[in-house]
Formats: sequence, C-alpha cells, structure tokens
Amino acid sequence: MQFEPTAGGALKIDGRRTAKDVRARIKTDVSALLADGIQPGLAVVLVGEDPASAIYVRNKIRACERAGIRSVAHRLSADTSADALMSLLDDLNADPTIDGILVQLPLPDHLDTDAVIAKVRQDKDVDGFALGNLGALTAGQPGLVACTPAGVMEMLGRYFAQIGESMSGKHAVVIGRSVTVGKPMALLLLQANCTVTVCHSRTPDTAAHVRRADIVVAAAGRPELVKADWLKPGAAVIDVGIHRREDGSLCGDVEFEPATQVAGGISPVPGGVGPMTIAMLLDNTLVACRRRRRDVAHP
Ligand code: GUN
Repeated sequence: MQFEPTAGGALKIDGRRTAKDVRARIKTDVSALLADGIQPGLAVVLVGEDPASAIYVRNKIRACERAGIRSVAHRLSADTSADALMSLLDDLNADPTIDGILVQLPLPDHLDTDAVIAKVRQDKDVDGFALGNLGALTAGQPGLVACTPAGVMEMLGRYFAQIGESMSGKHAVVIGRSVTVGKPMALLLLQANCTVTVCHSRTPDTAAHVRRADIVVAAAGRPELVKADWLKPGAAVIDVGIHRREDGSLCGDVEFEPATQVAGGISPVPGGVGPMTIAMLLDNTLVACRRRRRDVAHP
C-alpha cells in the first residue's frame, strides 16, 4: 500500500486505507487462532444513551464481526449504579472467553471514571487507559497501548517507510496533553527515538514550536488551530481532531487545504486517525488474547 499525493502536493497519510490493511492482517491472524479453536472476544460496555457513543459502539461491534472477533455489547441504562457496573466488570474480568473489555467514555456523571477504568483487569484493558498500562508504556515494557496514539504510530511508520526515512532523530511536536492521546503519543514518539515537545493550552507560542517540527501530531481539540504557515516545509502532519462546522462539514485541528501545500505528508479528516482507532482496538484485542491464552499463541 502506498500513500497518494493530495492536490496540494503533500502525500495523503490515508487512515482509511491503512486501517483496511491492518484489519486484513488481523483477520488473517484471527483465522489462525480460530483454526486452533480460539476466538478472541471483546466486551463493549455502554452506559446511557449518548448518541455519539452509541455510534462508536456500533462501529466497534461491526468491526469485530468483520475481523472474526466475537463481540458482546452490554448496553446499560443511564441510571445504572456503580455497584451494578462494577459487578458486570467483575464477571467480564473473570470470563475466560473475554480477552478485551472496553467501557465507552464518557460515563454518566454519577459514575467515577477513574474507579471504573481501575476495575478492568490490566491484561484485558484494550483501551490502554489503566495505570498499569500507562506505566508499562512509560517504562518501555510490554502492555496495551491506547488505540488512538497506537494508530498514529502505525500511520507515521508507513509514511516514513514510503519516503525512505527513519523517525529516529526527528523533532516531533505533540499538541495536547490528554491521558488518552497526548501523553501516550509523546511516549511512543520518544520510544521511536524522536526528540519530543509537548505543547498545550498554556504554551505561550505553540506556532514557534511547530515551525521546528519534522512531525506534528495535532490533538488539541480546537478546530483548524494549526495553520499552514506554522508548518516546516516537508513536515509530517497527523490530525487527531474532529469537529463539525456550522455548515455540517467536518474538519480537524489543522487547516487542511493550505497545509497540503507545505507539509510532506498529512492525514485528512475524516479518513485519517478515526478509522485507525478501531483497527488498533481489534489489534489490542488480538494481542490480549494471545498473551492471556499463551499456551496456544501464534507469536
Ligand atoms: N470515547 C471516545 N473515545 C474513546 C475511546 O477511545 N475509548 C473509550 N473507552 N471511550 C471513548
């Protein structure tokens, strides 16, 4: 698979195509496990009726089906008690047919998100949000890595392979410091031997940092924050943001069209990081399955 150029000249770091490729590989790997009588299983827990969350959950379940992964959706009412949710998680933690557990966020206000995340067994935490998995990433030890940053690394890896360069030694700027994206992203880039700068809402001059960046990962959650004249010519730009404009169209954290004329490669929105997040969730489920059922693992 090769990334094609955009009209502006930059290569389109195409998450949709990359995700398709990753899902095909996972499907093959799952088939090998199925031949040994093992079917990876993912439990997805949704509390409440948030419409966006319901769509995410439906897409995750559908992606599992296509990959041959067994999925079980637990849709609970918005007034579900903490005890009831914890009890369900106890059952899923103990269920030998369940390799991954994902509790869709955000949770209703009366539930303690940190406590819920902590309840999920670390080796089934396919979101990579558990403190143990964040610690493993920090220490450079095996664990489960949060899906969005893992997807970004897969995209960057393929882009740099295509242009015949290494990520090692590159200056990467991450915009955003969330526990789910910015922080693990910075750690993964560090692991790939990048020099990493993390900018955030209190950084006085983010543009000045971005101008020195060979790699930009925009995860600020602010529509079209990153302008073309912030970019170093030839930079690789990954846009994690997704926003709906007033006219109904979607945009990311980067002003896409002008940026395609300066960047060397850039991911679009939609069709960039979004599809990769689900592909990496499937991958984490497969990894968790192999690790937990090691006796018959295909390394
Ligand atoms: N809500 C939005 N993104 C995510 C995600 O990656 N994982 C979970 N569990 N909830 C989310």
